[in-house]
Amino acid sequence: MVSAAIQSLLLCETPSTWLEEASQQLPNLLIDQANCEKKAAATAVSLLHRSGSDERFSLELSRIAREELKHLELVLRVIKRHGMSTRHLSAGRYARALNEWTSKREPARLVDQLLVCAMIEARSCERIGALLAILKGDLRTLYEKLHDAEDRHFEFYVARAYTLDPNYCEERLASLSRLDAHLISQPDQEFRFHSGTPDR
Ligand SMILES: [Fe+2]
Ligand SMILES: [Fe+2]
Repeated sequence: MVSAAIQSLLLCETPSTWLEEASQQLPNLLIDQANCEKKAAATAVSLLHRSGSDERFSLELSRIAREELKHLELVLRVIKRHGMSTRHLSAGRYARALNEWTSKREPARLVDQLLVCAMIEARSCERIGALLAILKGDLRTLYEKLHDAEDRHFEFYVARAYTLDPNYCEERLASLSRLDAHLISQPDQEFRFHSGTPDR
């Protein structure tokens, strides 16, 4: 279900205990999914402000931002159709920990941020693939639509980071892979789209 590139990056699969929890927590899964799509669109827009005169980079980021907003609309429609209501849900620990990992100094910071975007897309793609095995009906259709887009977004962000500094990326991606695997495989008190194993 996931590309060879994503497979070599991820050191562990989504745990079956997380999948069982997801099947019991569909409203929270969808509300957090909507939050993830908003954040993905906002991140693409914020990178757009730093793309300078690189037109190709700007155009692709603009396309990703629109695509993430389209995903948001798809998720919101499913939430409405199921009679669920959106409510405030705090952000999980995953993206926060990845963002804390980024260098505070440029030019390393921009490369790290692109790698974090790539990692979030890669893990999302793997997790969606795992969800497809347990979801049915319009929820399954929704996640099928998200899956291929997240794979493309991963490819874009990782390729962009490598054009800036390939040697640095090699070393940093290894470190980021370990951090991702830690967050995905360790107990987590909150259930979210990118949470670790349920700790209850
Ligand atoms: Fe998305
Ligand atoms: Fe994405």
